[in-house]
Amino acid sequence: MPGWLEDAVFYEIYPQTFYDANGDGIGDFEGIIEKLGFIKDLGCNALWLNPCFDSPFKDAGYDVRDYKKTAPRYGGNDDLKRLFAEAHRRGIRVLLDLVPGHTSEEHEWFIQSKKAEPNEYWNRFIWTDHCFRRGEGMSFIGGESERAAAYAANFFKCQPALNFGFLKPAESWQLGTDHPDSIATREAIKDVMRFWLDAGADGFRVDMAGSLVKNDDEKQSGTAALWRNIRGMLDREYPEAAMAAEWSRPEVALPAGFHMDFLLNNPGSGYKTLIRDYELSPKNEVTGTDNSFFKKDARGDIMRFLEDYLPRYKSTKDDGYIALISGNHDTVRLRRTLSPDEMALVFALLFTFPGTPFLYYGDEIGMRYLNLPTKEGGYFRTGARTPMQWSKGKNLGFSTADPDKLYLPVDAAPDAPTVEEQEWDGKSLLNTVKALLRLRHNESDLQAKPNLEIIYAEKGRLPLVYRRGGLVLAVNPSLKAVQVPVRLNGTFVYAIGAGSLEKGLCALGPQSFGVWRV
Ligand code: NOJ
Repeated sequence: MPGWLEDAVFYEIYPQTFYDANGDGIGDFEGIIEKLGFIKDLGCNALWLNPCFDSPFKDAGYDVRDYKKTAPRYGGNDDLKRLFAEAHRRGIRVLLDLVPGHTSEEHEWFIQSKKAEPNEYWNRFIWTDHCFRRGEGMSFIGGESERAAAYAANFFKCQPALNFGFLKPAESWQLGTDHPDSIATREAIKDVMRFWLDAGADGFRVDMAGSLVKNDDEKQSGTAALWRNIRGMLDREYPEAAMAAEWSRPEVALPAGFHMDFLLNNPGSGYKTLIRDYELSPKNEVTGTDNSFFKKDARGDIMRFLEDYLPRYKSTKDDGYIALISGNHDTVRLRRTLSPDEMALVFALLFTFPGTPFLYYGDEIGMRYLNLPTKEGGYFRTGARTPMQWSKGKNLGFSTADPDKLYLPVDAAPDAPTVEEQEWDGKSLLNTVKALLRLRHNESDLQAKPNLEIIYAEKGRLPLVYRRGGLVLAVNPSLKAVQVPVRLNGTFVYAIGAGSLEKGLCALGPQSFGVWRV
């Protein structure tokens, strides 16, 4: 386990819209370098960059055309290496986004694989044996190649599935995971990893990590075995490199060799009940009641989160870390349904739970979710990918380009939150995030280690009280003052709102969070 993860707090950057240093309307590596001081000051000491590789951008870069070349719009490979070096100089690590499940349809491997004549890359992707034959469990696309076969699309049509084999091949065109061509795909991905780790990257967030081996079993044992093999390589060659899975099944991903796994917004996920407990209509409108735990009208119920989280946490706490996120480039922003006061309490929990928290750029100032037409395959996700809001100046400080040249428009609301304004306001969301992260870095009991104990959590009741080593913490998102006997007394360490831990009682004012030393 890379030791640096113990105190890591990640900041996710969508490179298109973070900061445009050369004034062409789109973010770039130089822009990220210029803002490293801001990130450090915020309290984040690690980055996850969404894909920044050469791509036709039909899925915002998750359609990689060349794994070893950066997209020129962000800068060259040397600029990315400079970003690694500048980040390291400030004690910041950098994870790249590895997309091992598919390439772009324009990747050279796929161009070769589509050819009528067999060649080295024929089995690099999943193909049936006839242009009209489709397989089960995936989408297959025919009619796109000289080769008389249909290929499996891993996500959009432009993203042909790389072939790591099938757990139990059932058709003649399905290879086993031990077939030399399946192994060659795995080794090709290792080669990409080595390339960027040698260049200075500190690891990877791995796209769709749980779906590489097809027709896998319930336990995903084929895909897990593949990652254990890759982890073996990392342990031998790059023991400080960290791997975060987009799997949302830590009980499988962590024993499979990942150091971290995200809990995502999947239907039924406990994480979702904290902050996005509502349905979205096909038109992307919030429908029905919002039962999120952090809504101040407190219809929420913490047990729906804990009943999902705790068994996963307990069964994996010796294997790796669960990563709780404020959001990401695939989800609507927190601010869509939560006020800054409600968000402050969300951050209080995210940053004081075990594991490795991830903050999505702009959430620290409460950037809004905008209703926008799709861009680069974003669809409803586009509204969570708008330019970072630095100041009240032109394009909210994101770029000097003409507004119609921007990758996406900035928030036009007169009260659009900005970094500059919030830096001066001691009570701003930005300063609350900074204070919470300072607390986490100062108190080793609040870092990644698995020392969580739940002291009070009851269905439909408040507050939630939990302990981390020598600290007791409590949160009350509701508008009512609450108290509960906990047979503990403590001295004040930190609070949002008002609270006390004395005479065996934990008491919290409306919308409050407290930390005490016991
Ligand atoms: C998950 C990524 O987060 C998402 O943005 C992308 O569209 C799909 N995987 C396909 O790569």
